[in-house]
Amino acid sequence: MIHRIFWNAHVRREKLRDRNPEKRIHTDLVFREILPFVREGVKVLDAGGGYGRYSLELARRGCQVVHLDLSPRMLREAQELVREAGFENRVTFVCGKVQDLSAFADESFDLVLSLDAPVSYAYPEEKRALRELCRVTGRTLVLSVVNRLGQLPVVVEREIHLRKSLALSWQFFKNGNWDHPSFFQAMEERMPFLARFLFPPLHAFLPKEIVDAVEDCGLEVRRIVATGSLTRLLSRRTLRTIVRNPKLYEEFLELSRLYDAQFEVLGVGSRVASGLLLVAERKHSGAMV
Ligand SMILES: C[S@@+](CC[C@H](N)C(=O)[O-])C[C@H]1O[C@@H](n2cnc3c(N)ncnc32)[C@H](O)[C@@H]1O
Repeated sequence: MIHRIFWNAHVRREKLRDRNPEKRIHTDLVFREILPFVREGVKVLDAGGGYGRYSLELARRGCQVVHLDLSPRMLREAQELVREAGFENRVTFVCGKVQDLSAFADESFDLVLSLDAPVSYAYPEEKRALRELCRVTGRTLVLSVVNRLGQLPVVVEREIHLRKSLALSWQFFKNGNWDHPSFFQAMEERMPFLARFLFPPLHAFLPKEIVDAVEDCGLEVRRIVATGSLTRLLSRRTLRTIVRNPKLYEEFLELSRLYDAQFEVLGVGSRVASGLLLVAERKHSGAMV
């Protein structure tokens, strides 16, 4: 309920985020992680697909996409974008939760995506969401979640401004859970619309935690990346210069892909989007790349 209220109210904000150079770089980096698995006719599940940032591009490349999201408003926006682009016969829209994919059979998709943290927002059912995503993966899963260590500075800043305390930050550091403060929860019960204004409850993962959780579900993790780490460490001015120069931009994306996958930065990741991405495969599937 709280999550649906929040995401329904944030369609416009989600789209505006694309203007931020840090977010644009993040999207392009994530897209590079997906591209090796994209072919015409590939069956894709985009779980928590939002307003269609990735589904639309996959449909353009000839994939058959099931686009699932919790928020009817996000779905409506995605449907509109896909229709305007003329790909409505390639995308099916489903209103549902990533933690309940019972409408889909085991291993029914070649490629399963859950990007920019729907699994983290499935909290307190994040483990169930992971089991479901792995179950329906026929070949490859590309998943991104909130990076616990990378997000801690953001939590500290929010909490200091909200109530000059570090209690929630300690909890977040120790178990990865971000819950609404109790005074806010009490108000929300009476006025649910308040859930629009505070970031929704979530679970943030450590790198080893997400790798172990996915491998426990029977997939093999091939790659783990703290997407956006190099970007985060640069000034906005530098990022704008890079983004404006196509040749420099290409080179920067390649450098970032290598840098962000180094063991030493796995706890960093983007500040403006989910900072921990992994690529996993079903053991018997054989790589598509
Ligand atoms: C930050 S947006 C990311 C959207 C898209 N994957 C992207 O990368 O552009 C998070 C999306 O997850 C959806 N979401 C949150 N919790 C979910 C859940 N439990 N099941 C399905 N979708 C969920 C939200 O409605 C929202 O559209």
